Amino acid sequence: MTPSHTTLAADSLDPEATYRLMSGIVVPRPIAWITTLSAQGVVNLAPFSCFTFVSNKPPLLGVNIGRKAGRLKDTGAHIHERGEYVVNIGHGGQLHAIHESSAEHAPDVSEAELLGLATVPSGHIAVPRLADAPVSMECRLERVIPFGLTGAEFFVGEVLAFHVRSDLLQAGKIDTRALDPVCRIGGPNYATLGEIITLRGMAQTAKTVVGGGA
Ligand SMILES: Cc1cc2nc3c(=O)[nH]c(=O)nc-3n(C[C@H](O)[C@H](O)[C@H](O)COP(=O)(O)O)c2cc1C
Repeated sequence: MTPSHTTLAADSLDPEATYRLMSGIVVPRPIAWITTLSAQGVVNLAPFSCFTFVSNKPPLLGVNIGRKAGRLKDTGAHIHERGEYVVNIGHGGQLHAIHESSAEHAPDVSEAELLGLATVPSGHIAVPRLADAPVSMECRLERVIPFGLTGAEFFVGEVLAFHVRSDLLQAGKIDTRALDPVCRIGGPNYATLGEIITLRGMAQTAKTVVGGGA
């Protein structure tokens, strides 16, 4: 039997209702666990799940950062100021810390310190990375694109270095099961990796065309 559908006209929904709907539809979302550095040298840490990669040469990551009562979030403000940040990827054992790091604190409070998460210096930028994250990517801001009426901004950063826990790397690929990634599925709800289903490989046209597509 054909399922019945409820149709919602997008222009009948206010921003909050639209957010509730979209954050339940665009799932599961990976989580960029971002470290930034304030002008005073405080390491800020917060999770962002409107996150994807947008190019592989150069490697570019995109993350959408909204506002708090119209003001930039600390992460967004620091990226604007310094043009540098680290996208860390947490594992299942860090889920509680990932969630707790979204609590709102004054800009002079370091969520990393508060949660007892050690940081280590990065190689290319002044912003440190999380020592125990299985993956950390040092990023330099490439561009910021504002979208919509709520002041959200899409930050695109170029990855200057990938730090990958050595046991996860096999012939240049990531062992996803060992990575144990977590994702957000709306509100305070998360999921971990379920069954991995391997289907037949499909012949694909080479991705890279010099001077052409990504
Ligand atoms: C798992 C998770 C994912 C989140 N994703 C986003 C996001 O993509 N964009 C956003 O603006 N806020 C997101 N938030 C909310 C921010 O983490 C939250 O506003 C945080 O306080 C920002 O911290 P900051 O002011 O130190 O940057 C998310 C929260 C959680 C728990």
